[in-house]
Amino acid sequence: MWGNAKVVTDSSGQQAIALTLDQSTSSAFRSKKTCLFCRIDIEIKLVPGNSAGTVTTFYMITEGAWEFHDEIDIEFLGNSTGDPYTMHTNMYARGQGGREKQYKFDFDPTQDYHKYTIIWNKDWILFLVDDKLYRQIKNNQIYGAPYPYYYPMRVYATIWDAENWATQGGRVKTDWSQAPFTAYFRNYRSISCSPFGNDPLCVPGSGWFSQQLDDSRKQQLTQVDSNNKIYDYCQDPKRYKNGPPPKECGLPSK
Ligand SMILES: *[C@@H]1O[C@H](CO)[C@@H](O)[C@H](O)[C@H]1NC(C)=O
Repeated sequence: MWGNAKVVTDSSGQQAIALTLDQSTSSAFRSKKTCLFCRIDIEIKLVPGNSAGTVTTFYMITEGAWEFHDEIDIEFLGNSTGDPYTMHTNMYARGQGGREKQYKFDFDPTQDYHKYTIIWNKDWILFLVDDKLYRQIKNNQIYGAPYPYYYPMRVYATIWDAENWATQGGRVKTDWSQAPFTAYFRNYRSISCSPFGNDPLCVPGSGWFSQQLDDSRKQQLTQVDSNNKIYDYCQDPKRYKNGPPPKECGLPSK
């Protein structure tokens, strides 16, 4: 879309898209097609070394007015050499966002490619890392919780500079002497998760009509919640001084 987005042969001999960031430009690519319910997989190798201030993203978003947009997103917040990356996730439905949860990894996401997946179907939004479930958002529209449901989205990947907030709350700035910063993306796959289909890749485990996650998925979530989760908007009372936390925080979610 803009900046330095190039198809390259990476060090393992495979084709990849390299997105680079330098002091003059960020960069991005996007999907040709849109989808209304789909599963997106991509492998990403993040910026190695001192990536503080940089943000690499992989997200889906509707077109049209920002105030009413839907979005499902993953942002990787860089860090100083040796300090862990943060995976930041969020959702917007009809312009309502503020559903942030953050995770750290058990591996170094800059040493190798890892697979990141967003599944969006009529019942669930699921975020997976190397096929392990990290986060679930249940469609609780019937109880008044927001959920993206009616409008198709397009997939985007970007790298940009966010030194004012990304790393340790903006205390650690981008070191431009290390530029350009490069993240690699490969093996993109998009499959339709139509409400009328029953592709096993689109469902959380035990069948399309199941409103519940199966036991192995629930177990993965419990593990990730205790080992990897570092922020959860539902568990941040400071944010909700003037009222209750969002509806879904008090509803069954698995
Ligand atoms: C960077 O590393 C520090 C120290 O380990 C950690 O507190 C922080 O959450 C990490 N991530 C970001 C995005 O600052």
